[in-house]
Amino acid sequence: MIKLEKRKILLLPGDGIGPEVTEEVKKIINWFNDNKSLGFETDEELVGGCSYDKHGTPITDEVFYKALESAVIMLGAVGGPKWESVEFDKKPERALLKLRKELKLFANLRPAICFKQLVDASTLKPEIISGLDIMIVRELTGGVYFGEPRGIKPIENGERKGVNTHTYKSSEIIRVAKVAFDLARKRSNKVISCEKSNVMEAGQLWKEEVQALHDKDYKDVNLSHMLADNCAMQLVRNPKQFDVILTDNLFGDMLSDEASMLTGSLGLLPSASLGAKNKDGEMRAMYEPIHGSAPDIAGKGIANPIASVLSFAMALRYSLDLDNEAEVLEKAVQDVLNDGLRTKDILSEGMKEVSTSEMGDAIISKLQ
Ligand code: IPM
Ligand code: MG
Repeated sequence: MIKLEKRKILLLPGDGIGPEVTEEVKKIINWFNDNKSLGFETDEELVGGCSYDKHGTPITDEVFYKALESAVIMLGAVGGPKWESVEFDKKPERALLKLRKELKLFANLRPAICFKQLVDASTLKPEIISGLDIMIVRELTGGVYFGEPRGIKPIENGERKGVNTHTYKSSEIIRVAKVAFDLARKRSNKVISCEKSNVMEAGQLWKEEVQALHDKDYKDVNLSHMLADNCAMQLVRNPKQFDVILTDNLFGDMLSDEASMLTGSLGLLPSASLGAKNKDGEMRAMYEPIHGSAPDIAGKGIANPIASVLSFAMALRYSLDLDNEAEVLEKAVQDVLNDGLRTKDILSEGMKEVSTSEMGDAIISKLQ
């Protein structure tokens, strides 16, 4: 494996609100450099629709190789209606999927935490969500997102057939399940694994492998299995029953969007996509807010940068071994919320509306 430069951070702001929210992360990185002498080096490149516009491809080889050499990638968001009619292989999302797949970032951590200051921002009743702290572990490099065969082909009678294939190998299930069990041990020690073993063979395999791994190495962790549709329902009925949710790529995509709304806004939730550690303990990782490019509000200065900022806190914790700094940054976000500052997406009565950059500045002022 290429030697990864630990303090090198590759910024890929992308499309829509991606650049705006990444700008605030840049300010925070600079603050850590200026005040804590952490010596982060940053580099910035195009990815997604903006890369397509300039180079005719959502990610150039040059940028891809840079990503391959970076220990930490901070991604903004990719895509938007502007590129909807672009041919499938050149769509902005392909860049993101290529990075996930080729960098082997198989474990996607998506925390859904309900900040006490924001219990009223959710559409659910406060008693259902207050104190909520869920970690979704989504498999990110397998399943129907990448399975072969795939494609659209003409068939008889002038019809066409769209094909995607949902596949998982034992090893792919086991490596992501380990991540979930290890995380659970540091939390409330409970994993709920979700699949559709009642309908899909790959779901049956998922369930068997997770159970076998548990029985072999993680007997101390409380494991149960839940059908993914039931999980979707339970998430809004009684979300606090969950600690770690382990699930595949597609179900994880949907369940994490659902879980995010328990917390009030998609604008608050960070994510980490982690690879395996090599024998030198090095690991590739990409951090991104789970919200998309939100083209409808792009360029207006109203996007919420908190998900991006908290994604950087995850980078400090998971890639840079700077747990202390991660905590300081997370605390700064809490403090700003305590002060009643809100971007538009989480605004409620009596609170003060601030812009994207004002929110970033306020967080920085709390770091001092
Ligand atoms: C996500 C997004 C992506 C996904 C898209 C943009 C390809 O929805 O990260 O959840 O489907 O994985
Ligand atoms: Mg999604």
